[in-house]
Formats: sequence, structure tokens, C-alpha cells
Amino acid sequence: MCGIIGYIGKKRAAPILFDSLKKLEYRGYDSVGIASINGDAEIEIKKGAGRIEAVNERMNFLSVNGSIGIGHTRWATHGGVEDKNAHPFLSCNGRFALVHNGILENYLELKEDLVKKGHTFTSDTDTEILVHLVEEEVKNNGEKDLVKIISDLTKIAKGAYTFLLLDAKDHIIYAFRKDSPIIIGIGEDELFASSDITSFLEHTNKVIILENNQLAVLKEKYTIYDTQTGKEVKQKITTIDWTTEQASKTGFPHFMLKEIFEEVEISKHSLEQDSLKLNGMIEVLSKAKKVFFLGSGTSFRACLLASIYFAKIAKKHFMPILGSEYKTYQNLVDKDTVIFAISQSGETADVLQGITLAKAKGARVVSLINVIGSTIMRESDQYLTLNSGPEIAVASTKAFISQVLILTLLAFGVADRLKEGREHLYEVVRKLESIMNQSDSIAMLSKDVLNKNDLYLIGRGVSFPIAMEGELKIKEIAYIHADALAGGELKHHTLALIEPGVTCIALVPNDDTKDDMINNIMQIKARGGEIIGISSEHLELFDHYIPIPKVHLEPLLMIPVLQLISYYLSVIRGNDPDFPRNLAKSVTVL
Ligand code: F6R
Repeated sequence: MCGIIGYIGKKRAAPILFDSLKKLEYRGYDSVGIASINGDAEIEIKKGAGRIEAVNERMNFLSVNGSIGIGHTRWATHGGVEDKNAHPFLSCNGRFALVHNGILENYLELKEDLVKKGHTFTSDTDTEILVHLVEEEVKNNGEKDLVKIISDLTKIAKGAYTFLLLDAKDHIIYAFRKDSPIIIGIGEDELFASSDITSFLEHTNKVIILENNQLAVLKEKYTIYDTQTGKEVKQKITTIDWTTEQASKTGFPHFMLKEIFEEVEISKHSLEQDSLKLNGMIEVLSKAKKVFFLGSGTSFRACLLASIYFAKIAKKHFMPILGSEYKTYQNLVDKDTVIFAISQSGETADVLQGITLAKAKGARVVSLINVIGSTIMRESDQYLTLNSGPEIAVASTKAFISQVLILTLLAFGVADRLKEGREHLYEVVRKLESIMNQSDSIAMLSKDVLNKNDLYLIGRGVSFPIAMEGELKIKEIAYIHADALAGGELKHHTLALIEPGVTCIALVPNDDTKDDMINNIMQIKARGGEIIGISSEHLELFDHYIPIPKVHLEPLLMIPVLQLISYYLSVIRGNDPDFPRNLAKSVTVL
């Protein structure tokens, strides 16, 4: 989704903006641009459709002068992927430039009105009306209070519009938040404003996370206003404990591989939850009449897995719901309901929409998030954090394992078996390294055996959502058609597709699903299918075998195996696993 960055300080803005934009790349984008106020108090804009490096070759971002500027990575919603639709946009008089994250609902009628008033538009975007609106209001209000003018915008423009406005006359950046995040970074003699902490983390880790409808005015100093009351507000400065090393590749060819390997370390941090918060969460879940897990994509797979462990370990029926399907279940939600939102980014629009609707019905909202200060965290009555550090690759890996570990710990907690749960989970964590040590053989197997156009993954019990997560990853970054199914479903449909040459990945943990899985494997083999077995036991039925250590919660060790398979398949096929086509890291649109 769109990324925004602003800089004001003593250094040249262009190189800082350029570096920050590269750090925003992971969010997914199709166009890029920067604007800076050069020495003559004029705004210079360079922008275009394409990847940052390619646009830079055409435009030479670094040639832009000035020490105050804004930048943007665009993920197209309104208007095609063309140079003219890249942000920033300039007002007719050249005084203002603007970048935006969000969607303006009533832009067409506003545009019509502005055109009648003589404004010229250069793009097909909804965003561009904002900069003309500001210009128009400044004209009508006789150059008065910009804070008031921007505050009044909320009465005119409808939708989500977090934006940065660069004012060449007064040398100010205005940062306004409505519905998607904006974080102010406070450095030595310099200020940043961005949709993402990692974009300026190398300069400062002191931040203010703006609330909805707040406006930060950045000059030598910053001031924050509540645009609803017009009053200045004091916001707490938070120190973020993420490091720049966590947000860089540190020798790995891709962020995704680095983040899979990081699981060995971060899993420990994930389990080291603050005991007050953990017990508080266990209490809420134990007492709740109804609990609905809410998540999308990979996080939904964690919800599914959690619902199985809560059933098995804690004898609780907690229902997993896809963020985008929340409305289907709205009738079941009331003041006795707990919505448990699971989200790495804490910004997923589908999940947020569900939260808003559930709150309106009096439900309690708790969450498990990775990004501190994210909207879902702030909308929650209670939350736990994954403690995974920044996840940069679009495909979620280390966050998924953290989600699964913490949710399983909670299931043990609700069953009043927290100590035992911790022991089992630390046993898994201790064995993660042995999976990483097999990465070369997993890479070989991926190249020699799994590089097919169709793959099937079968598992039962908790191994089923893990197979589903493997399917998701293989489709997402290797662009291979994959299909995950519960072993018992084979005979109901997919067996019809099994013939010689068909490859199935079978998840065979040493648990109560093992015998049934062996049955399914025999059904596949009887029809000529080939089996790649992931198990702690080398069964003769396997054509190829990926060993995992024998532990109590064995299926959890299959997670990194499938992540590594998807990673290597992606690389073998010449894809960039960090940037899957058409996908974004933080999905802030419905
Ligand atoms: C897939 C992936 C996505 C996310 C989904 C939800 O690898 O990362 O499917 O899981 O977009 O994102 P969060 O967890 O940020 O709510």
C-alpha cells in the first residue's frame, strides 16, 4: 500500500527521502516520487511509474536540492500506473505539494467543483483534489490559518486521507492523519513524518504516533493539533526498540530468508510475554461467552490453527473468521462477545472494519499485533505484541510463527496448564535451528522435485492450517498453483486429480493424525502420486523425506520447512520473494 515520508532538517532532503522510499518498498508499490523546496522557494518534483531504481535512472531524484521535502510510493487505486498518476501533486500556483495514503470517496464531485473554479488537474487520481482544495481554501480565506484550513477539510472531503502537505511559502510540512498511520520521527535538528517507522529508523527511534484527526506542523520544531477541537495537544514521545539491523538484510539475499532464519531468536522473545498482560488475556478468554478470532491471509491461518488448539487443549469453541467475512457473522456479535484480532501490521482494513462494527455492538476487542502503535492495537481494549521485530518481506513468516506460539501458549493458559505449555513451546523453539540447518537440502528438493505447476499439501488437525499456510506461501511468492486439504477430504474430491507425476507434500506428525495420514498417503500412492513426507519418522511410503525433530508439538516445526520450500521455489523460478507481484505488505484498503 502507499508509503509516505517527509523530511525537514539541515541535511539535503533528496538522499534521505530516496533512502526512506527504498525502505518503504516492501509495502508494495508501482510508482514513486519526491518533492523538495529548492533554494528559490520553488517546489521541484520528480516522479514516475516503476520501481525506485528505474524511476531514479530516468529522473535522477538525487539532483533535487533543498532540505525540506516529501516522498511517496504509490499502490494504484484511482487511475492507472502511469507517470502522471504518481505522487506528489502540485497546486496550480506551485505553492503546495501533497502525497496521500487512503481513498477519497467524494473526489469526483469535489473535482467538478474545483474545475469550475479554474483548477487544472494533471492526473486521474482522487489524491490530486486535496492539494487544489487547500489552495482554493487558502485563496478564499485570505492566506490565513493553514491549521484551520486543513482542519476544515475534514468537513468537505470524505474517506481516508492521511497526507503530507509541503508549503513552499512558509517552509512547513503539515502531516495529517485520517484512518491510516502517520508517525513523526524526532531526530537531532531534524523531523520526519512517515507511514512507517522503519523508513527513518536509522536517523531516530524517538517517535510520536499521531491519532486520527491530528495534524502535526513540522518546522524547526513540531506542534500537534486536534483538528476536531482546533486545540494544541501534547503527545507522548515513544522510544521504539527496533534496530536498523533488524530492518536490513545483513548479508542475506532476501529479507524473507533472513526473517525465516530470525525465527530461531525471535520465537524466544515472543514467548517472553509480560506476565500481567498474558494473564489478563487468559482471564478474558477464559471468562468470555463467545470468542471470534479475526484475521486475514496468513494471520487467518493462525486464527484457524488457534481455534483447533483451543478446542483440543482448552476445550473451548472459539470461532475463526476471515476479516473480510466479518459482516456475515455480525448477528452473532453482542456485548458478551470477545473479538480477538490477529494482525502483524495492525493495519489490515478488513480486520479493522470488523473491529469497528463489533465495537458498535458492544463487543470487547483484544488483539495480537506486531507493530506497536498500530491502529488495531489502539482500537483494542487489551493486546499482546508478537515481539518479532520489523517484518519487511511482504510474505509473513516470522510473524506467523510468533502468532502461532503465543496463541498456543494462550490455549494452554486457558486450560490452566501454562507451565506445561511453556515447556512444550520452548522445546519447539530449541529445535528451530535444526530446521534452518537443513535449508540446503530443502533448496535441492525444491529445485529437483517440487518445481512443478501444481502442488498438493495434505495435513490433519493443526497440520491442516499449517498446510494451508504452505499453500498460501507457495502461491504468493512462487506463483505455483497449490492446493491444501485435510487428508480426509481427498476421497471426497481431490483424489480425482491424482495420477502419476502428481506431487503431494504430506504433513505426518507423530500425533493422533498419523495413522489417518498414512491411509491418505496410501490412497495417493495407489494412484501413482509422489509423496514428499515431512515427519519425525522416515516412513517407507515417502518418495522423499524432510526430517523434523520429535517434539510434543511437532506440527509447529513444519511451519519453517514450508516457508523455506516456498522461498526456494520462488528464487528458482526467478521471482523476487520479497516483492510478490500485485501484493502489498500492509493492506489498508477494503
Ligand atoms: C501472506 C501475508 C498476508 C497477510 C495479510 C494480513 O504472506 O503476509 O496474507 O497475512 O495481508 O496481514 P496482517 O497480518 O498484517 O493483518
